[in-house]
Amino acid sequence: MKTPKVTARAHTNIALVKYWGKADEELIIPQNNSLSLTLDHFYTDTTVQFDPTLTADQFTLNGQAQKTTKITKFLDIIRQMAASQLFARVESTNHVPTMAGLASSASAYAALALAGSKALGLDLNSKDLSRLARRGSGSACRSIYGGFVEWQKGDSDQTSYAVPLVENLDWDLKMIAIVVNDKQKKIASRAGMQTVVHTSPYYSAWVKRSKEDLLALKQAIAEKDFTQLGKIAEGNAMCMHALNLSATPHFNYFEAESLKAMQLVEQLRDQGLECYYTMDAGPNVKVICQGKDLKAIVDSLSQEFSNEQLLVASAGPGAEILEIKNSER
Ligand code: DP6
Repeated sequence: MKTPKVTARAHTNIALVKYWGKADEELIIPQNNSLSLTLDHFYTDTTVQFDPTLTADQFTLNGQAQKTTKITKFLDIIRQMAASQLFARVESTNHVPTMAGLASSASAYAALALAGSKALGLDLNSKDLSRLARRGSGSACRSIYGGFVEWQKGDSDQTSYAVPLVENLDWDLKMIAIVVNDKQKKIASRAGMQTVVHTSPYYSAWVKRSKEDLLALKQAIAEKDFTQLGKIAEGNAMCMHALNLSATPHFNYFEAESLKAMQLVEQLRDQGLECYYTMDAGPNVKVICQGKDLKAIVDSLSQEFSNEQLLVASAGPGAEILEIKNSER
């Protein structure tokens, strides 16, 4: 019999203290704790149904058939948990403006973990969902929760998962994504972080620094100190990118337009408009600011970037089930 058809939604997140390096590649256990903000405007909706008439998993993204290798590896974990051998039909839609290039494995695997486990009748609690999502992509474990989230690295499959810090924010934080380039990443985060762990002479300094950043950031969040939050996020991101520059072979995610965006943010700050930048494993620059300054900052940025290149998001919610359709017998 077919299982119920379950649709789940999960939002992307932006790390303020980054995850950059694994201690265990297979189980995706990180080298350091990380801390993120879940975002409202960028999310993935995924529908999963397991079906005895299928002879292999099927996967479509935005209506287009995709390779199933990674999805099957992930569904195998769920099948094993539920002692099932059924294949699944997985339909995902990324709700990220098409040119953003921000589509993220975080929202994808968080939505798939929730929809897939529910379809096979597993009622996982948030901690176990976070552990499961982590197996698909590390940053996905944080997208189970809304608001500020910490991924506690742990040292095993059982102990590595995210915890919510502040689920409903009562301060008006905004993130402006400056879309510099929507092409595929030059170097996927998985490969990039692996090179860094194995070759950067500064890797142990990064682990130490991110521990300090995490403590200071948690304090800034508790005190709602935006200046501290921004400084820590920006500094931590640049440390991560410094690791890439110091790896063998060295690599980086900066493009000319990324540097231009960062310089603009620094200029705005000099002019008294408080904002900070962060970057992940791609050339887009994400600007963190407060709602009261949003308009002025967007107005200034739009002198250099088109409106389509500037996407604004606020804090968003955790992963949720949208619909469960029971199959006709
Ligand atoms: C730079 O979660 O995409 O965005 O676990 O290998 O799938 P895998 O990596 P992924 O890495 C995200 C790296 C980052 C920083 C972060 O989100 O913490």
